[in-house]
Amino acid sequence: MKPNEPSRTALIIARQRAAHQVLDHGSILYDPFAMKILREDEKDVLQFANKHPLASIGRLFTAARSRIAEDALSRAVERGVRQIVILGAGLDTFALRNPHGALEIRIYEVDHPATQTWKLERLAEAQIALPPWPIFVPVDFERDDVGEKLVGAGFQENSPAFFTLLGVVPYLTQDAIGRTLDYISSIQNSEVVFDYMEPPEAFSEELRQIEKARAEQLERIGERSDTRFEPAGIAAILRSHGFCAVEDIDFQEIASRFGRAVQGLAPGHAGLHVVHAKL
Ligand SMILES: C[S@@+](CC[C@H](N)C(=O)[O-])C[C@H]1O[C@@H](n2cnc3c(N)ncnc32)[C@H](O)[C@@H]1O
Repeated sequence: MKPNEPSRTALIIARQRAAHQVLDHGSILYDPFAMKILREDEKDVLQFANKHPLASIGRLFTAARSRIAEDALSRAVERGVRQIVILGAGLDTFALRNPHGALEIRIYEVDHPATQTWKLERLAEAQIALPPWPIFVPVDFERDDVGEKLVGAGFQENSPAFFTLLGVVPYLTQDAIGRTLDYISSIQNSEVVFDYMEPPEAFSEELRQIEKARAEQLERIGERSDTRFEPAGIAAILRSHGFCAVEDIDFQEIASRFGRAVQGLAPGHAGLHVVHAKL
């Protein structure tokens, strides 16, 4: 990311979430704040969503990864977890929609300082009132010590926590990903949901071309998305960072679980995965 500029991909993902509300009626992830936080007209959102038939695949994956994370998060809360950490939050609205508001839950929204400032401005401009639970923690994963910053914001390292890291891994260096995973696994009884991309060969031809063009465009605006993993190696990588139970959900499984909820879902194989890892 460019040091003083908010993430452009955070805006793209927010558009996908908003398009999912408009076109699919939020059938995978119902988000009444998705349009409000975006502050764009429905027709612009639809234009974005209909730009290419394969955009439906991005819309499915964006909604599904949040749904998988939020379902796992709810189960963790039922087990007594009271700290939620949203790493690389972008314009994620979970803190606004938090269904566990009656419990004393702390939601730490961690993001690059420039993106977080921009989000807070957007929330104010959209006149979205903040509930009492989110705690905003500006962190650059490449430079800062995420644990130090979280503890500085009140995070209790001796209590369990549920972490999400959605749409972030491709943009980080292996080193920053490794340090972040090490920190998560240092918190007893913690768990994490994150997503990752396979190398380009795992995508069907048409998707590969689109992904290539997208990566080049991102490179030009200073957001590289280079970090990819082979599914065959992901469990071993997570074990080396201290995780034991690893569930890796591939795109085929996501399409069969949620695909019917997305209008006009294009065919195509995407090397996209959602992982739920526990200690
Ligand atoms: C594609 S967006 C995903 C946002 C959000 N998780 C969602 O699903 O809507 C990527 C996010 O990663 C964050 N990010 C990228 N590089 C980062 C870094 N070095 N430090 C902190 N955050 C970073 C961006 O600020 C942005 O919010």
